[in-house]
Amino acid sequence: MKLLVTGGAGYIGSHMVRTLGEKGHDIVVYDNLSSGHRESLLYGRLVVADLADRETLRILLQEENFDAVIHFAAFIAVEESVKDPVKYYRNNFSNALNLIEACVRHGVDKFIFSSTAAVYGMPEKMPVTEGIPLLPINPYGSSKMMTELALRDIAQVTGLRYVALRYFNVAGADPQTRIGQRYKEATHLITLALRTALGLRESLNIFGTDYATPDGTCIRDYIHVDDLIDAHLAALGYLAEGGRSQVFNCGYGKGYSVREVVDMAKRVTGIDFPVKETGRRAGDPPALIADSSRIRKDLGWQPSHDELEFIIQSAWDWEKKRLALNL
Ligand code: UFG
Repeated sequence: MKLLVTGGAGYIGSHMVRTLGEKGHDIVVYDNLSSGHRESLLYGRLVVADLADRETLRILLQEENFDAVIHFAAFIAVEESVKDPVKYYRNNFSNALNLIEACVRHGVDKFIFSSTAAVYGMPEKMPVTEGIPLLPINPYGSSKMMTELALRDIAQVTGLRYVALRYFNVAGADPQTRIGQRYKEATHLITLALRTALGLRESLNIFGTDYATPDGTCIRDYIHVDDLIDAHLAALGYLAEGGRSQVFNCGYGKGYSVREVVDMAKRVTGIDFPVKETGRRAGDPPALIADSSRIRKDLGWQPSHDELEFIIQSAWDWEKKRLALNL
């Protein structure tokens, strides 16, 4: 297939490009390199441009006959989205709309969208099914939800069909350690734990120990990035076979507490790094676990790396390499 991958130079996007390239697809990556890296691209041709640039988008989609678009490019920091909502609505919604509009105009009829569990907000019932009301509690989640709604409405009146994948907690790296997370300012638990183990940070904070969970810390559903990539491949096949527009949770349906993640990070690294128990971080739901039965049933998706130890081990191998090569 001929594919356009936005944000293909980023963390998850670069894993997608790797897999698509290995499978022989023809890939164009569209990335403004605001957080992505040219060196993360193992395949494909890179167009360095912003999704705000409608003229570049128009020319690209007019000239190339893409079979599908996979749209990763977005900002992802929840806290930043609270401080600068315009930035999030502009990029994650308005720029996404530019892309969707260009697809409709130029006859690209298959669209895969990176959505998030943040669209659910603070759901009470676990695991979370796709059908519950969307009640995001921060601009990041709202901006992603708005793009989902735009896709839904646009698909109703055009030939566009889409799959929105709601990611839970994505972690881990390429098992061959060619690529991985390259954020200088990480905010994610596993990355921060490993960087603390490497001595790059003084200690790891545990944000809140008084949640109504078995050990008092928050519970999340961690999914290895390569299983998430498999979900995209399955979605692509589904749309190629004429599947109707649909939304799928991407998680294993299994939760780990912050303490369990910290313990596993200590075990994998063999380093008893310093940990501090601090107050809650604003906006953290106590638990977020996917009901992944829909994607398993409809797309036949089955995870291959459904083990916290494997996820952390692959992230650890990458973090060590990143430090050694100063990436
Ligand atoms: N945590 C800590 N210490 C840290 C970092 C995180 O205790 O230094 C805790 C958080 O409070 C949370 C858990 O670890 O309970 C996981 O936090 P992450 O920041 O790794 O991930 P989130 O669950 O906050 O975020 C993920 C995705 C977001 C998405 C969100 C939906 O990364 O894109 O789920 O809630 F919006």
